[in-house]
Amino acid sequence: MSKLLLTKPLDTIMHESAETGEHTLKRSLGATALISLGIGAIIGTGIFVLTGPTAARYAGPGVVYSFIVAALGCVFAGLCYAEFAAMIPVAGSAYTYGYATLGEIFAWIIGWDLVLEYAFGAATVCSGWSGYVLSLGQDFGLRLPPELAGTPGSTFVLWNGHWEFLGRVAAKLAQAGVDPSTLPQRHGVFNLIAFVGIMVVTLILVVGIKESANFNSVIVAVKLIVLFIFIGIGGFMLMHHPELPRVNWHPFVPANTGAFGEFGWSGVLRGAGVIFFAYIGFDAVSTAAQEAKNPRRDMPIGILGSLVGCTILYILVALVLTGLVNYRYLNIPDSLAVGIDVTGVKWGSLLVKLGALGGLTSTMIVMLLGQSRVFFSMSKDGLLPKFFSSIHPKFRTPWISSITVGLVVAVFASTIPLDKLGEMTSIGTLLAFIIVCAGVWVLRKRSPELQRPFRAPLMPLTPILGILISLAMMLGLPLDTWLRLFIWLAAGLVIYFTYSRYHSRVQKGLQPQQPH
Ligand code: ALA
Repeated sequence: MSKLLLTKPLDTIMHESAETGEHTLKRSLGATALISLGIGAIIGTGIFVLTGPTAARYAGPGVVYSFIVAALGCVFAGLCYAEFAAMIPVAGSAYTYGYATLGEIFAWIIGWDLVLEYAFGAATVCSGWSGYVLSLGQDFGLRLPPELAGTPGSTFVLWNGHWEFLGRVAAKLAQAGVDPSTLPQRHGVFNLIAFVGIMVVTLILVVGIKESANFNSVIVAVKLIVLFIFIGIGGFMLMHHPELPRVNWHPFVPANTGAFGEFGWSGVLRGAGVIFFAYIGFDAVSTAAQEAKNPRRDMPIGILGSLVGCTILYILVALVLTGLVNYRYLNIPDSLAVGIDVTGVKWGSLLVKLGALGGLTSTMIVMLLGQSRVFFSMSKDGLLPKFFSSIHPKFRTPWISSITVGLVVAVFASTIPLDKLGEMTSIGTLLAFIIVCAGVWVLRKRSPELQRPFRAPLMPLTPILGILISLAMMLGLPLDTWLRLFIWLAAGLVIYFTYSRYHSRVQKGLQPQQPH
């Protein structure tokens, strides 16, 4: 039992993080690149796809408050991540922090849990991305057969001579008084676009972190510009037509319908649980710690800078959107495009769709990057097979890890529905937040003397609030998501007890495996 709780000595971890040479990751990222990496991970499906439906179903214009509540939860966890990432700047993120503080079995659980955040997260975003690709393709008359356009079980109906995804046209059918069950139907089998999307991103990652970071910076700029244009044009419209916000923002928090979570303040809370997905990703900055030039200074800047920047943007986008369009009409996947249509700017909708496409691409990149880095660290410690830490001789990236992860994620994205993937991502991420907050607290008690380039303020209030708010958001998720989480963790423990504990280098008293 005591072996399961062995911790990895901090000296060893620090030594690893200081290694250089051809078998190590390249230290090429500065503060701006790290903030850009963070924003690249954060802004994605959440703001482009979920804002409208969350307003329409749960919170009305009060979705602005939902964004604030979710951000608060993330800030407490973000402060804890920043303390760890500056102190232990290695690629493994929460996994390594857990190894240093809580012991091997917890480290394994976190590493395995992070697969939910990064791999399922990438799959979720890719699922949303494929929806935008299909929608844009349709604008230009390109269509796939339903069997290759959706995950198993998704329904398509023949309407106006075309096979349409039922979810996308349900509102229009209702308006036209058409009962969908009277229309011919076909079902999705394999989401081909999602599969191809992940494979392309995987190739980009194999070629290299610096190149990926540059590519990422360009895309981040594109999606930021699109959001700024949305806020600019929309804000201008609201100022010149004050009757719009007067009608649409009143009441700002629509009265509760009588059921918990349907408008009113409980709706704002449920909205926060859903919109939390929009903030996932700031912690991915910490997985690039081993590729940062000056992690002690730049990790906190990268994590907190990207989080604060995105919070401000999200609040402005939500304000403008709910001012332009009444929340009742926002239960659609491309609500930002519909919002800009109201302004009468003809190219706006296409621009938003293109921005969303680019935006989601960079989110996928950072998520997959994070996943392969976590496996890289677990493999160096012997908990996963050696090939996960093999570094490509020319590109110096963990290429086998990237390709393996990419293939698995591509299969998830093409066969599991978006909402299920999203819920697994949220529950996995919140669990990681809780363990990281607990770890910071434990380490402050156990090793108060350690040098901490960044200290989370208000100890122990910050980790306690981080834990409580994350737990509250987890409790808001459906029961079957909890069951899947337990099954996932149980499968992870089987691997640990049949493979990892027998290969653990810490248990054998060895130094971490040198990548080859
Ligand atoms: N925060 C990321 C998104 O919204 C995961 O897509």
